[in-house]
Amino acid sequence: MDKARSVMLTAADHNLKAFSPIRIGFLEIGNRFVHSATHEAMATVYGEVTEGLVKRYQVLAKGEIGLIIPGFMFIDRAGKAAPYQTGIHCDEMIPGLKRIVDAVHEREGKIVFQLSHAGRQTTRRTTGQRPIAPSGSFRDPINILKPHEMNEEEIHGVITSFGEAARRAMEAGVDGIQLHAAHGYLINQFLSPFFNRRDDAWGGTAGNRFRFLKEVLAAVKRTAPEGAPILVKLNTNDYTPREGINTKLAAQYAEKLARLGVTALELSSGTLFYSFMNVCRGGAPTRELAKGMPIWLRPWVRIILNRWRERFKFEEAYHLDAAKRIKPVVGNIPVIMVGGLRSLSIIEEILQQGHADLLSMSRPFVRDPLLVKRMKEGVMNRVSCTSCNKCFAAVLNDKPLRCYADNGLLR
Ligand SMILES: Cc1cc2nc3c(=O)[nH]c(=O)nc-3n(C[C@H](O)[C@H](O)[C@H](O)COP(=O)(O)O)c2cc1C
Repeated sequence: MDKARSVMLTAADHNLKAFSPIRIGFLEIGNRFVHSATHEAMATVYGEVTEGLVKRYQVLAKGEIGLIIPGFMFIDRAGKAAPYQTGIHCDEMIPGLKRIVDAVHEREGKIVFQLSHAGRQTTRRTTGQRPIAPSGSFRDPINILKPHEMNEEEIHGVITSFGEAARRAMEAGVDGIQLHAAHGYLINQFLSPFFNRRDDAWGGTAGNRFRFLKEVLAAVKRTAPEGAPILVKLNTNDYTPREGINTKLAAQYAEKLARLGVTALELSSGTLFYSFMNVCRGGAPTRELAKGMPIWLRPWVRIILNRWRERFKFEEAYHLDAAKRIKPVVGNIPVIMVGGLRSLSIIEEILQQGHADLLSMSRPFVRDPLLVKRMKEGVMNRVSCTSCNKCFAAVLNDKPLRCYADNGLLR
């Protein structure tokens, strides 16, 4: 990418594709910018929406972002990934969730909820029970637990819970839903040959591993109104110690999703327990990140993070190669690319070259919720987020999401 152009490109260039509208399914989106799901650690311990959460989305909605996806929401209690995660697991959550939706709609924004089940990527402390997963044959490095291997009945139970969560999202008034099939959570676990070691109808082949996502999609379609936008966030690489999803396998899954008629695909990578720095490449604030881990693990996390810095070094648009590979196999399905997008010129170039249809960002909006508006007004053409990852370390430490770059997190 031609970094020099970022000096020249400002949104005074009114013809930029970045500011042109796009339709995804029935949904009209005003520009090509998406707020990628970002866990806020701001709900109550029961998962209820707080005043702080509503305020966050009121501010973001002022920023003229085309589509806003709030942080992942747990669809049932066993699927809760973090203590202050927002819940969509019971009907009592609907009025609070509606406040977030209304905050965005009042400013003419569009909003999609990300539905998630943690699977093995959680702790007893968070859910009050042993984590569940497609396979229970090995222990995870962060919670040191062997999860309970889901039986047929439990698998169908979770599929139904996804459908029910989609119904609640629709009752709260959202414009669509996104299934979190990335970052090592339950759907990703079923898709990945690393996590899914089953040899029944839910594992063993790519087709069988895909079945869980396929049935979740069907359950969601049954409860959502006809034509409601259903997006999927997919890993293009798991970066697990043994082969998980790689770009080739991701392309196969993407093709299947396109055939099933998903509304849009967001491309990402990494897993929370095995390669969390690949999810959001950049700085590794080792002390702060280690603090969010169990005490005995902290020295190891520091050593590993220091030794592996090169593996997750920040690169602008770090999923571009994966997008180039996947975009051609999904036909007309819009592709949303996330990961290290920091300058308007690069965003514009990716759109012009057709490698993606929308571009999503997470950390830059934590730093500056109004960045799209500022870019459009020509006030800035490069975001000021340095990808220091202190916001990421904060939520791992159960601290509320905000930019901690200028003042420390551990004080
Ligand atoms: C604090 C924080 C929380 C995140 N929470 C989520 C989440 O809830 N769901 C999700 O799919 N991705 C989550 N991510 C990943 C981001 O959506 C995004 O994929 C990643 O940060 C790369 O984009 P960026 O370079 O624009 O930050 C989170 C990232 C950060 C930094």
